[in-house]
Amino acid sequence: MASDLQSLDETRDALGRAGYLAGESTALVSYLAAHLGKPVLVEGPAGVGKTELAKALARATDRKLIRLQCYEGLDEAKALYEWNYRKQLLRIQVEASDAGWNDVRDDIFGEEFLLPRPLLSAITEEQPVVLLIDEIDKTDQEFEAMLLEVLSDFQVSIPELGVVEAKTHPLVLLTSNNSRELTEALKRRCLYLWLDYPDVERELEIVRLHAPELSEDMARKLVEVVHMVRNLDLKKPPSIAESIDWARALLLLGAEDLDGDVLQRTMSVIVKHRTDLDLVAERVGVKLTDGLIGSRKAG
Ligand SMILES: Nc1ncnc2c1ncn2[C@@H]1O[C@H](COP(=O)(O)OP(=O)(O)OP(=O)(O)O)[C@@H](O)[C@H]1O
Ligand SMILES: [Mg+2]
Repeated sequence: MASDLQSLDETRDALGRAGYLAGESTALVSYLAAHLGKPVLVEGPAGVGKTELAKALARATDRKLIRLQCYEGLDEAKALYEWNYRKQLLRIQVEASDAGWNDVRDDIFGEEFLLPRPLLSAITEEQPVVLLIDEIDKTDQEFEAMLLEVLSDFQVSIPELGVVEAKTHPLVLLTSNNSRELTEALKRRCLYLWLDYPDVERELEIVRLHAPELSEDMARKLVEVVHMVRNLDLKKPPSIAESIDWARALLLLGAEDLDGDVLQRTMSVIVKHRTDLDLVAERVGVKLTDGLIGSRKAG
C-alpha cells in the first residue's frame, strides 16, 4: 500500500513533489499512518496546512480524496448514507398495482436505492482513498461515537440491508481547530500531529513555492514581518495562508520594496481586526520605516 511512502525520506519527498513542504513530525506521522493503518488527528491554529496535508497525501499517493466537511448538526444521513426516498417512491408507484408489499420492500431497500455519503463511499471504493474528515471539532460527541465505529470496524451496518464491509481501507485524516476537546476514545485510536506556525526558513520556502515570482529578499522580509506580527498579542495572528496571500498581493501591486508605506496600505491582507491593525501599524510600521527589518538588500 501507499507505494510512494516506503520510507520516511520517501514520504517527505513525495509530499514535496505534491507541493507540500513537510516538517520532521509531519513526515513521520504521515509515514506511520500509511503503514500502521491508523487515522491521524491533526490539530493546530487556523491556516497552518492541516487540510492541505490531506490533499497533498492524496496527490502523493495518487489516491482519490474523499472529503467530509463537518459542521454543527452534521448527522449520519449526510455523513454515512441515506435512502433515496424519491426513487423508492417511484418504484413503489410503478410496482404497487401488481406486486405484494414484501416484494416491493425487498426491492426498495437494495443497494440501488442507497445514497452513499463520504464515510460509506470511502470504505466501498475499489481503490483505497484518502479520507479527510475536516473540522471534526464542529460536530458533537454522538457523531464522534458513530465515526469511531466506522473507523475501528471498517464496516457500516444498515438495518434494512445488513452489514456493508469495507472493500479497502482509507488513509484517514481528521482535522481540528480545537474549538472543543475531542473525546479520549477518539484520540486513543488516532496518531496525533500538532501543526504550528513554521519557523522563518520553512515559511520562506512555503511562500516561495506559492509565489515563486517574488524576489527572495522581498519574500524574506515579508516572512520576517509576519513573524514579528505573530509575536504581538493579536486577536488573530496571521497564518501561512495569509503570508501567501500577502506575497501574491504584493506581486500584483508591483511593490518593489516592503516599507512602512506598503505595509500601511496592504496590511489588511494579513491582519483582520480593527484593534490588531492599529497595533501592527504602531509596532511594526515604525520598524519598517526606520529600516530595522530586512537589512539584507538585493546585491
Ligand atoms: N507545509 C506546507 N507546504 C506547502 N503549502 C502549505 C504548507 N502549509 C500550509 N500551506 C498552504 O497554506 C494554506 C493554508 O493551508 P490549509 O487550508 O491547509 O490550512 P488549515 O490548517 O486547514 O486552516 P483552517 O484551520 O483555517 O482550515 C494553503 O494554501 C496551503 O497550500
Ligand atoms: Mg482547513
